[in-house]
Amino acid sequence: MHKVINIGLIGFGNVGQELARILLEKQQGWAAKESCTFQVSAISTRSRGALVNRQGIDLKRALDDINQSGSFNIENPDYKLLTVDDLINLDFIDVVIEITTLNIINGQPAADHIKNALLNGKDVITANKGPIAFYYGDLQALAEKVGQILLFEGTVMDCTPVFNLVHETLPACTINGFRGILNSTTNYMLTEMAAGESFEAALKKAQEQGFVESDPALDLDGWDAAAKVAALMNVFFNADITPPEIDREGITAISRDDLDKAKQAGETIKLLCEGYRSGDETYGRVKPVAIPITQPLAQIQGTSSALTIYTDLAGTFTIESYDPQIRQTAYALISDLFAIVRHSRQL
Ligand SMILES: NC(=O)c1ccc[n+]([C@@H]2O[C@H](COP(=O)([O-])OP(=O)(O)OC[C@H]3O[C@@H](n4cnc5c(N)ncnc54)[C@H](OP(=O)(O)O)[C@@H]3O)[C@@H](O)[C@H]2O)c1
Repeated sequence: MHKVINIGLIGFGNVGQELARILLEKQQGWAAKESCTFQVSAISTRSRGALVNRQGIDLKRALDDINQSGSFNIENPDYKLLTVDDLINLDFIDVVIEITTLNIINGQPAADHIKNALLNGKDVITANKGPIAFYYGDLQALAEKVGQILLFEGTVMDCTPVFNLVHETLPACTINGFRGILNSTTNYMLTEMAAGESFEAALKKAQEQGFVESDPALDLDGWDAAAKVAALMNVFFNADITPPEIDREGITAISRDDLDKAKQAGETIKLLCEGYRSGDETYGRVKPVAIPITQPLAQIQGTSSALTIYTDLAGTFTIESYDPQIRQTAYALISDLFAIVRHSRQL
């Protein structure tokens, strides 16, 4: 039987708009192949207005409006005065996708959006690492209690299957640790500095390409990386840890000289993201570390990312995402949508 999944988007920035573009391009093929249609029926933003249509919003018009004026057009028949709470309360919404801005202080209000959506009987997908870094244990327990699904593949390494891989293929394994390169901005800068650029020039180049956080300290001081480490530790270890509890050092003290010296010693400097557990003890760290050039993580260049996972039964393996773009983040949401559809078919 053909299924229509009604989606409510909280946030319509870079990721939300790319999701809309993918749906416009690919929806028809999926409808035939998977017998389901992903229909965006409500969008709520902070300052660009909101749209609602039970039969599906005109996504092309929504994108055109944003491109032309930066906001949804009040003349659009789908335009509504709709708060986030209103969206969460809409009875026809099946899945809420939370893609608001990261709040590194406490993960709010995104965590409350997710909590309220679950309590209102919605499955939830997010690419926002804040809620998973600060409240994963509580949110997952709530999802299980109310019988809803919470998925968040896009929070770490975009659509590269980190959480799905662990969930689907390692259910019998204990994960003892992980080590990775998880922040694009700092890895790009360290790659540029190793090739001879100054810190300032490398930062400027990264900013010109548009992937530095609007507050660069989130990247340079290791906060984004610490949020990812906390999210991984919470999911892999049930660690109940938050980003401020991660041992954190950014790259602001690293100079081109440091990279030159590392090179002479057959090493390169990387902002390593690590998490380990031993018994009930867990430890997470973000720190610039000189590593031998022969190690796999030393080969991760530019905006690419990688994660090595240490397990008891499946051994040690590394996954890499090569130069991910915004499309890969948006695709993580699609892959989570498919997971929800397939789960509901098994019930
Ligand atoms: N961009 C990436 O490459 C990437 C990769 C992985 C994960 N993520 C995560 O994905 C999420 C979205 O990223 P993005 O690049 O799309 O961000 P963005 O361009 O800044 O867009 C954020 C959207 O959320 C809305 N918003 C913020 N606070 C809100 C609130 N309290 N209530 C309702 N709407 C609110 C904003 O509204 P206005 O439009 O009115 O400002 C905007 O539409 C973030 O958490 C980010 O960390 C992004």
